[in-house]
Amino acid sequence: MQHCLDIASFSYDELVELLDAAYVLKTQPPGYSVPVGETCALIFAEPSTRTRCSFEIAAKRLGFSTLVLDSAASSACKGESLVDTVKNLEAMGVRYFVIRQPNEQWLQELPSQAHADSHLINAGSGMHSHPTQALLDMLTIRQYKKDFASLKVAIMGDIQHSRVARSQCVALHKLGVPEIRLLGPAEWVPESMGEIPVQRFEQLEEGLQDADVVICLRIQRERLRQDQQVDAQAFHQAYGLTPERLKLAKKDAIVLHPGPVNREVELSSEVMDGPQSVILEQVSHGVLLRMAVLRNMSE
Ligand code: NCD
Repeated sequence: MQHCLDIASFSYDELVELLDAAYVLKTQPPGYSVPVGETCALIFAEPSTRTRCSFEIAAKRLGFSTLVLDSAASSACKGESLVDTVKNLEAMGVRYFVIRQPNEQWLQELPSQAHADSHLINAGSGMHSHPTQALLDMLTIRQYKKDFASLKVAIMGDIQHSRVARSQCVALHKLGVPEIRLLGPAEWVPESMGEIPVQRFEQLEEGLQDADVVICLRIQRERLRQDQQVDAQAFHQAYGLTPERLKLAKKDAIVLHPGPVNREVELSSEVMDGPQSVILEQVSHGVLLRMAVLRNMSE
């Protein structure tokens, strides 16, 4: 694989191959190292904890040296474009780029301008996509649920502004999930997900009924205008995942969240720390999945 920019560009077989490769890494060390001097640059123009740290750990485990550039500490704050930043790093021999940007335009622009041997990985592009997050979520779901073809997956919260939800819907659909439900306030549940069949629910109770997987999402406050902001407590009351609400899902339903979690807003602490939560397992899977992506590119 040359780049990892969007789930839509993966075939079913490629998706499964990556999930399998990440799964193997759970029990076996990679037994593989990139040539000495290979560098992976992490260019983050938006805040990140899990994605950035797990990419850095993944890269280091494969023998990469890493460079972390955040916009405040690099020339981006002096007006340099992403393309120019990448070209400068390429001039220093860097060929792996993990990139997070507040918009998605670069996905069109950068691949044609980057060095022919460069690898670009999307670590979050505006509200548009976050492919490796969706892939690690699929790895987590597969670990507990085995067969995607019989699942009811409920995604709840601020879906409208979530790049994670968009990529998850594409991945779930490609892997054969028949029932994708979107739950939340009407203004935050998109009318459609492009070609992907989804069901919309404004009543959480209806949407959670018999779900196998429940994915909670944070309110994307940084993408909301002042007049769109909501009160955290009121949101929790109407749309937060509580133990009572979770009882409506299947007994063995699992709860996911890409993080960062706002406790007592999109879900209660009791659910977050409870037996059905696989949220920290997702985080561990982040390292494995990102190792699988980097390894696939470098072999
Ligand atoms: C997500 C993101 O940045 O899109 N976080 C992450 O990468 N784990 C979700 C979020 O910020 O809510």
